Amino acid sequence: MHNHRTTITQFLIEEQRHVTGATGDFTSLLNDIVTACKVISNYVNHGALIGVLGSLESENVQGETQKKLDVISNDVFLHSNDWAGHLAAMASEEMDDIYEIPAGYPRGKYLMTFDPLDGSSNSDVNVSVGTIFSILRCPPGVDKPTLQDFLQPGTQQICAGYALYGPSTVMVLTTGNGVNGFTLDQNIGEFILTHPKMRIPETTNEFAINMSNMRFWEPAITRYVEECLAGKTGTRGRDFNMRWIASMVAEVHRILTRGGVFMYPLDSKNLAQGGRLRLMYEANPMSFIVEQAGGASSTGRQRIMEVQPTGLHQRVPVILGSKDEVEQIISYYSAS
Ligand code: AHG
Ligand code: MN
Ligand code: MN
Repeated sequence: MHNHRTTITQFLIEEQRHVTGATGDFTSLLNDIVTACKVISNYVNHGALIGVLGSLESENVQGETQKKLDVISNDVFLHSNDWAGHLAAMASEEMDDIYEIPAGYPRGKYLMTFDPLDGSSNSDVNVSVGTIFSILRCPPGVDKPTLQDFLQPGTQQICAGYALYGPSTVMVLTTGNGVNGFTLDQNIGEFILTHPKMRIPETTNEFAINMSNMRFWEPAITRYVEECLAGKTGTRGRDFNMRWIASMVAEVHRILTRGGVFMYPLDSKNLAQGGRLRLMYEANPMSFIVEQAGGASSTGRQRIMEVQPTGLHQRVPVILGSKDEVEQIISYYSAS
């Protein structure tokens, strides 16, 4: 007997049937994103065999050296999504300015921001990397969007997702109706629904932070981490475990799978930039996914999705994951 499995295409079309007036435009956009992620997955998988590891001479707008895979992934994402007429413009971590839809292609009603390869410092060492994307509506009446049209708070996102290129390639999506995860079956080239209705456990004994920044932290974070480290003998009364992968996509996926809290807080080293992670294509999409899975996401002082963006590459402090722990950390910020 054939064991029926739900492909991502089937899942998206069935979701579309619940939206009155849906034209199929959005479903079609997601299909193009899925294709882009499969292509990037294939490059990442083949790595040294096809000469795509290592760095280029170039730097991106953030002053970070670009990896070959950053540039390839950016290119794949742009050209998988610019031709179909679903998007009015795009913006990427790897490009200073917004990307306009080339003349000759129709412009659509959505805007997309993305991080083509997150955690790319891990690609050369064969540790998980990923792609993050966020979809916004192009403001009504705007035919040729400018930067200003992108500066919408995360609460305005209509879809967010990521692909994780790990031991399996996994795609996780939300359209504001819960979170679903799909695993790429390499034999048939299709994502299969394997993680329906993902939920983040509310309590956790696991935290993730780059401890090498400890001397730069604010008191609230120092207090929280010290209490975790004190474990059973401290005020928390239980032992904690720590992880740091340095690929936000992999950390968020772990948290969606078994709970945990992830922190890249404001500190005296990143104070001038306002944090480390980028609001428009890292923090906002991940916050949308985490909240939709029952978790919480905050700067420590404000819900991330309510931050009013002022720039495409704006940075923001990030504290996200299991609700109880995030709330505990927020309470330490309020108290300090
Ligand atoms: P990117 O590779 O897209 O620039 O993002 C890397 C980010 C994030 O994924 C990760 O959590 C963080 O940078 C790691 O920072 P540190 O190297 O400071 O630990
Ligand atoms: Mn990133
Ligand atoms: Mn990146």
